Amino acid sequence: MPFSRRHAVILVAATTLILYLVRSIDYGSPASWGRFRVPGSVAERPSYTAAIVYLASVLPGPRDPAKLLASLPLIQKNIPWRHQWPVLLLHAGAYDSYENQVDFLDRLRGSAQGQNLTPDATEKLVNRIEFVHTDHDLPAGIPADGGSDGPIWDREWPAYHHVCAFFSYKIFSHPRIKDLTYYFRLDDDSHVREPTCFDPFEYMHVHNKSYAFRREDPDLGWVTEGMWPLVSNYAQRHPEVESTLDRNGWEWPPNRFWPNNFGQGQNFPSYETNFDLVKVPRFRTPEMTAFLHELASDPKRFYWNRWGDAPLRLAQVYMFLDVAEEVHELCEIPYSHKDQVWDDCACVPLPD
Ligand SMILES: *[C@@H]1O[C@H](CO)[C@@H](O)[C@H](O)[C@H]1NC(C)=O
Repeated sequence: MPFSRRHAVILVAATTLILYLVRSIDYGSPASWGRFRVPGSVAERPSYTAAIVYLASVLPGPRDPAKLLASLPLIQKNIPWRHQWPVLLLHAGAYDSYENQVDFLDRLRGSAQGQNLTPDATEKLVNRIEFVHTDHDLPAGIPADGGSDGPIWDREWPAYHHVCAFFSYKIFSHPRIKDLTYYFRLDDDSHVREPTCFDPFEYMHVHNKSYAFRREDPDLGWVTEGMWPLVSNYAQRHPEVESTLDRNGWEWPPNRFWPNNFGQGQNFPSYETNFDLVKVPRFRTPEMTAFLHELASDPKRFYWNRWGDAPLRLAQVYMFLDVAEEVHELCEIPYSHKDQVWDDCACVPLPD
């Protein structure tokens, strides 16, 4: 059959259509890659959820973010995140306005560039930031002028005390955090100094851990007044807590069953919670929740005696978790707090 005019029209139309289709594929977008993906290599969906948590401010006014801006780029630069989980900045009003958020993110870009993050890493970090308004009210019975009433620690009253109460128990019912599988708290003076070899959430998941800390160091007796008797009495009333403590090798100060002054002035073991990686459901069991309610029942513990979340986290872990099975010292992450460099250990990559 000779090549007719009709054939020519069909050929031109077909060529145009093919060129149009080829051009319309955007090779850069994940959706178009999906069309060519072989079965089995479909983007894996993690079987857990997680977030990094910083407490950016606890009082309504602005707070200088300089330290926070220095800390954030390091987590992006030095941790090989398998998943870009959100970074929650909990604030009590400093970032309510859109302008303040934009300004912060601009400064974060500047800080990231100053720390030699690639443009891609910088944008990844900026995209992870989530501002979460969180109020910290004085509990009933604690007057607003309480700082002049002689609490054991009156510096930074009540901001510091809000921080202690928040991390000791309130965080486990925070609406943005309570349904996560893991949270990883860092403070604005936390520095992931150098690269590490795994994503800490993946570590927790792969090894089935419930709590990871970076350093253990006792809290002083004068800021833990009443803590030893509280834990001791609680364990006496809850035999399963007593036996968990025993199994975990818990040690009491002398004279536990003498009537008065047990543990007075004695240091209390603590995890340094400026680095605090938690499997949330393990801190929301009915048994743990009952203990958190007990802690909350007397706010003077936090606002007058300046109890901190560091010794209380350790108490929670030893009272309710299996330390040998569930707890890991995450020394694989090179870390410093303020200007203090903490000891590291070798990092073994996770299996693929
Ligand atoms: C993982 O740890 C939990 C405790 O958090 C335990 O109950 C469970 O049996 C563990 N699973 C495996 C597969 O070891």
